[in-house]
Amino acid sequence: MTVSSHPRQKPRQLSPAHDWWRQASVYQIYPRSFHDSNGDGLGDLPGITAKVPYLRKLGIDAVWLSPFYPSALADGGYDVDDYRNVDPRLGTLADFDEMTAALHEAGIKLIVDIVPNHSSDRHEWFREALASPAGSPARDRYIFRDGLGPDGSEPPSDWQSIFGGSAWERITEPDGTPGQWYLHLFAKEQPDFNWDNQEVREDFLTTLRFWADRGVDGFRVDVAHGLTKHLPETLPAEIEMPGMASEHGQHLFWDRDEVHDIYAQWRQVFNEYDPPRMAVAEAWVHPSRRARYASPEGLGQAFNFDLLTADFDAADFRSSITRNLAEADATGASSTWVFSNHDVVRHPTRYGLSAAPVPEAAAETETGTPMAGGAHDGKAWLLAGAPEHELDRDLGLARAKAATLLMLALPGSAYLYQGEELGLHEVTDIPDGQRQDPAFFRNPGVDIGRDGCRVPLPWDADHTAFGFSETGAHLPQPQWFSKVAAELQERNPRSTLNLYRKALWLRQILQGPEELQWIEEDDPQVLHFARPQGWHSVTNFGDKPVPLPAGLVLLSSGVLPQDGTLRPATTVWMTR
Ligand code: BGC
Repeated sequence: MTVSSHPRQKPRQLSPAHDWWRQASVYQIYPRSFHDSNGDGLGDLPGITAKVPYLRKLGIDAVWLSPFYPSALADGGYDVDDYRNVDPRLGTLADFDEMTAALHEAGIKLIVDIVPNHSSDRHEWFREALASPAGSPARDRYIFRDGLGPDGSEPPSDWQSIFGGSAWERITEPDGTPGQWYLHLFAKEQPDFNWDNQEVREDFLTTLRFWADRGVDGFRVDVAHGLTKHLPETLPAEIEMPGMASEHGQHLFWDRDEVHDIYAQWRQVFNEYDPPRMAVAEAWVHPSRRARYASPEGLGQAFNFDLLTADFDAADFRSSITRNLAEADATGASSTWVFSNHDVVRHPTRYGLSAAPVPEAAAETETGTPMAGGAHDGKAWLLAGAPEHELDRDLGLARAKAATLLMLALPGSAYLYQGEELGLHEVTDIPDGQRQDPAFFRNPGVDIGRDGCRVPLPWDADHTAFGFSETGAHLPQPQWFSKVAAELQERNPRSTLNLYRKALWLRQILQGPEELQWIEEDDPQVLHFARPQGWHSVTNFGDKPVPLPAGLVLLSSGVLPQDGTLRPATTVWMTR
């Protein structure tokens, strides 16, 4: 056994009040599917407030709340009508304040989602743009272009939107004639803002202050690598553009260097507060370019999706961890880790399907533009091409629990997604007629979209809608939810819920400096590391039992046999 270290280059002076986010466990709530308090079938803010005791008992440090703003739900709330209000179906600003106070009272911070790349087409600015002439200041807040061809009936370029289909939509001018086109990198209901426009910049500063003044502790920045665009007079064809995740910042709209001027300004706003507000970037960029998003002069932290996109494989995990710790060290940020979110197939299902062949159509999409929203990276196509019988649910869940326990032992922030503490699998059998995700509608037969991870949570097996609501759920819940409801798991000491609780509480106690030491084991399928407090995590990624290293076991993701071995797809935490 040999030891290789990853100590921090320079130990930092940390302040618990300012640096709470550096090693936080953050629980993502997708509000419309969390808990419904008023029986309309849609989760709401008072529903979250009612579940604060559950969140407190779970042992998380913060909640990341996905968009709760007024929205037509063309993209699950990421099409925002009004950035400084609450969707009336989800509650009021007073409900928001009550929820924030209840979370804070329970010692839980609140991070809200900010969606700056695009608004919804119902935003008052976009409606004003439609009612105003070409070239007007109202149009300048978005990206309008004349069409090609003699009558302008062809889109300004052949660019495809992330959800499939053209990235341009033609409007009807106020006088009723067919008119200009606007850019929407996502759904057509999500027109892209023009970030060269000062009013757009100012308005987002107002929005950040609006929520920071209401007491939010941080922001998750949606599509942080979008925003600034450089569109020349003659637009190149899609095929002529450099790769989206290019190393050079040469793309016309993704990951341009100028985007960091915006975040430098945002940082000044965050630092007006005491403690400064934190932010985390959702930036699907080349790993070499992630650091700037995470720098202290910028947003301060950025998601890395490396573990999320990796297979359950010791070598892949180790190289991602090593790379990301080194990256965090270089920027002064802390690492982020995540396996599941509202954009990807839940990780127990991914791991249970990992032997399935890649369907041809999906393989082609995969090598094209990586999905900024993540559905492709999250392997939704696996499900489109893999019938249910290819899913090994037990193996998937065992691997997922092992991976999660490993993640919770790492230095840095761990981002968890609602329902993963119940070990939920993806819901794979939503009838087409009940699906909601634009990714499904715009990629027929290739991508089943992201609804399967957004199905309302099962709280109580014996109640209507499994305790989610007194009436029903906005996406159909499967029968197997009755076996995994939270209330059942509460009573079972060996449930996934109780594993998460124990792990999250232990993590709070055991976290020390952001350092990790690899302990080399003979078997390459075993990943073993130690944290400074004498806390060890050992994972068996292989398919045969391996000898359990000596020490006192604190927690195990699966059954530990008496014969001193560690079973396949199991992680243990130990002290030595
Ligand atoms: C969000 C997605 C959303 C997209 C467009 C993503 O990064 O996570 O859910 O569809 O942005 O806003």
